Amino acid sequence: MLQFDLLAADPASHARRGRLTLNHGVVQTPIFMPVGTYGTVKGVMPRSLEEMGAQIILGNTFHLWMRPGLDIMQSFGGLHQFEKWNKPILTDSGGFQVWSLGAMRKITEEGVHFASPVNGDKLFMSPEVSMQIQTVLNSDIVMQLDECTPYETKGHLTTEREARQSMEMSRRWALRSQAEFQRLENPNALFGIVQGGMYEHLRQESLDALVAMDFPGYAIGGVSVGEPKDEMLRIMAHTPHRLPAHKPRYLMGVGTPEDLVEGVAQGVDMFDCVMPTRNARNGTLFSRYGDLKIRNARHKSDPQPLDTSCTCHACAGTAGVSWDQGGRGGFSRAYLHHLDRCGEMLGPMLTTIHNLHYYLNLMQEVRSALDTGGFAAFRRQFAADRARGV
Ligand code: GUN
Ligand code: ZN
Repeated sequence: MLQFDLLAADPASHARRGRLTLNHGVVQTPIFMPVGTYGTVKGVMPRSLEEMGAQIILGNTFHLWMRPGLDIMQSFGGLHQFEKWNKPILTDSGGFQVWSLGAMRKITEEGVHFASPVNGDKLFMSPEVSMQIQTVLNSDIVMQLDECTPYETKGHLTTEREARQSMEMSRRWALRSQAEFQRLENPNALFGIVQGGMYEHLRQESLDALVAMDFPGYAIGGVSVGEPKDEMLRIMAHTPHRLPAHKPRYLMGVGTPEDLVEGVAQGVDMFDCVMPTRNARNGTLFSRYGDLKIRNARHKSDPQPLDTSCTCHACAGTAGVSWDQGGRGGFSRAYLHHLDRCGEMLGPMLTTIHNLHYYLNLMQEVRSALDTGGFAAFRRQFAADRARGV
C-alpha cells in the first residue's frame, strides 16, 4: 500500500511538499533516506536515527541476500524485525550493486550471473529473484530490477545505441518485476526506475513506458554514475517534473546538500546517498557554513562544535541546545579531531550522527520553507550560508 498526498507547491519551481503513507508509517516529503545497506546505518542505533528525525531508511537486496541470507530474513518475518527499525524501509533491487561487481558478473536478458563476493558460489539475480527477496524483506518500497546505464562503456562514452539497449532491457525487467510482484501478492509498493543514460529522448521513452505501467511511484536511476556535474544537472532538470504529479519521485544515489536542494526545485521528493555516512567515516563533515575536514591540524585545539547552529548530539550535547543559544554545547572539534587521530570508535559514530542530522535537518528546513511559501528565499539563504565557510 502507498498513498501520496500533495500538500503544497512552490509557484516558482517544480518543488512540492507531500505526505507519503506506507505500511510502516508516514513520511513527510521532500525527504532524505539514510543508507543502511546491510541492515544497519553504519554506527548509528535505530533510536538515534529516530531522534534525528529519520522517517525511512534504505536496505539492500543484494547484500542481505548474501548475508545473512533469506532463511534468516524469513524466520524474522522481514527486515524490520531483524534490524529493529519499525518505520518504513525502502530496498534497492540489487541491480546497481550487482552491476558494481564489474568483471565478476555477466548480464543477460534473463538476469545477472555472478560469483558471490562472499564465498565464490555461482549466483543468479533476475527480476523475479529480486522481487522474491524483497517480498521476504517486506520493505515498504520495493525497487524494480534495472540495469544502471554507465556513463562510460569500455573506455568510451556510452553511445546512444548502447544506452537504448540498456534502457529497453530495464523496461522489460520492469514488466517482469511488476508481474512477479503481483504474483507474490506483495502488500507493499513497487517503484519503476527511469533509465536512458545522458540521452533525454531515451529518458522520455523510458518514462512514458513506465508511466503506462502505472507504478505507485517512480525513481530516476543512472545518475551519479561518473558523469560531469553539468550532465547530472541536465538530467535532473529534464526528468523529474515530467513524471506524474500525483506520484512520489525518487532520485537514486544523489547527492551533495546542493544537489538535494536543486533536486527539490526540480520536483524530486525522495533522495538517498552514502555521502553523509561515508564522508563522516572519512572525516569530511557538512555544516550550514560549508564543509570541514576534521583531520586538518587547524582543528587540533578548537573548542567550538562542528557547527554552531546544529542541534545534533555531537554538536549540542544531550541538552540539544545549540552553541548560539547559550547551551553548553556538545563535543568540540578538538575532541573529534583527537578521536579520529586515535582511531576511536566514537569518532565516526559522532560524525555520522552529525552528518545525517545535517541532511535530515536540511530537508526539514526545505519542508518548512515549502509549507510557508518561502522556498525561493530559503534557496538564496542556503547558498549564501554554504558559501560563507566554516
Ligand atoms: N542507485 C543509484 N543509481 C541507481 C540505479 O540506476 N539503479 C538502482 N537500482 N539503484 C541505483
Ligand atoms: Zn551537529
